[in-house]
Amino acid sequence: MSLNVVILAAGQGTRMRSKLPKVLHQVGGKSMLAHTITTAENLGADRIIVVYGHGGEAVRSAIQNEKVEWVEQAERLGTGHAVQQAIPFFTAQADENILILYGDVPLARESTLQALLAKQPSESMAILTTELDNPHGYGRIVRSSERKVERIVEEKDANDEIRQIAEINTGILCASSQSLINWLNNIDNNNQQQEYYLTDCVGLAVAEGKSVEAVICADPTEVMGVNNRVHLAEMENVFQARQRETLMMNGATLRDASSIFVEGNVEIGNDIIIEPNVLLRGNVTIGDDVTIGMNSVITDSVIESGTVIHPNSVIEDSNIGENCEIGPFARVRPGTELASKVKLGNFVEVKKSNIASGSKVNHLSYIGDASIGEKTNIGAGTICCNYDGANKHKTIIGNNVFIGSDSQLVAPVKIDDGATIGAGSTITRDVPAKKLTLSRSKQTTIDNWQRPIKQKK
Ligand code: UD1
Ligand code: MG
Repeated sequence: MSLNVVILAAGQGTRMRSKLPKVLHQVGGKSMLAHTITTAENLGADRIIVVYGHGGEAVRSAIQNEKVEWVEQAERLGTGHAVQQAIPFFTAQADENILILYGDVPLARESTLQALLAKQPSESMAILTTELDNPHGYGRIVRSSERKVERIVEEKDANDEIRQIAEINTGILCASSQSLINWLNNIDNNNQQQEYYLTDCVGLAVAEGKSVEAVICADPTEVMGVNNRVHLAEMENVFQARQRETLMMNGATLRDASSIFVEGNVEIGNDIIIEPNVLLRGNVTIGDDVTIGMNSVITDSVIESGTVIHPNSVIEDSNIGENCEIGPFARVRPGTELASKVKLGNFVEVKKSNIASGSKVNHLSYIGDASIGEKTNIGAGTICCNYDGANKHKTIIGNNVFIGSDSQLVAPVKIDDGATIGAGSTITRDVPAKKLTLSRSKQTTIDNWQRPIKQKK
């Protein structure tokens, strides 16, 4: 069986009040459309066809995915009309099924959609429904006295009796390709909205004597859609609740679960503690027994076992080794590689540097484009002067080096193993091993010097 997924994304989203097309608004740091495409990919779709609307070039250019095929729905004449635009992409083979998803309904679980695909009768269709306390606005599922699905009636076309029905159409359905093409060729727009309704395919199938199956989605949050930014915020909550649950089930204690945000793929070990207000973004891997302090943001990084990230630290695109201590108020910028037991203290910025095991940069320093050996101590206020205004240069520091406080290391420069740099030095030339090197004007004391005194007026 081959599976084509058609994603409807032609809505204008006027109520978002945005220059950004609705489906590009983000949930968990990723556009709703990109989430939906990921779902389609995870379901093993052979083709993914996105129906976009007039002026939707922004949508196309935002999604850089070679798997996706695009078709424009120039006029918005209804959901049935939207799917009709995708028909040229179908092979209409007997072994081909079509799954319809919506670009603004990104939270459907793969397991739910798998259940839907499994329930689809050959040559017919299966629809995903759910039951709502307030079904207002949705298409209702009309069933026979034997509870067989008979048709879907839109809110605007429904009488009072049908409006009482709590089971609604989520819009998501899967159908045999051949049958769907036939039904789509037979729908009309004789309804209140003068639209070509995809939902009319249900009645057409039943009229042919085919059984239409329904999978009732037990969790209505899976099929929520977005029309405005209130919905978007609600969807973010649902999305984050799932991420938090996954973290907790996998071994993380979240001290204030509601304040932890995940935007990406996080892999964790056991016994992790995450304090309030933490954001994990991109691909983040966290080893066993790691603590992440309050107000920290970790992006695309690996934090190995036993490491403590103290509060207010920002780490991006870096590798932090085992048993390190980072922060509070540390900024670890892209390309940083820390071995085990490295300490970075408060107001320390590290960029594109390697620091070997046991070394410490405890206070107020900038380490950029540097390589630091083992057990080296970088004193407070040390600056790697890596930039000459045009180019970046490297600072190479060996093992067991001691850099006195308030030193400037003007790169390119190399400091050999065991060297000591006197505090306040500006180092412009390479420094030999195991000696004291300093550049500092001699200290003098002026005898008989008098501090100026303010004259009384
Ligand atoms: C549709 C369903 C309704 C269901 C509801 C679930 C139909 C006729 N009705 O109603 O049964 O309960 O969704 O939310 O299918 N779209 C296009 N092109 C169009 C029209 C729509 O791409 O010409 C897209 C929209 O961008 C949206 C989706 O299809 O993502 C649903 O369209 P919308 O107009 O919201 O349909 P509803 O009236 O809400
Ligand atoms: Mg709608």
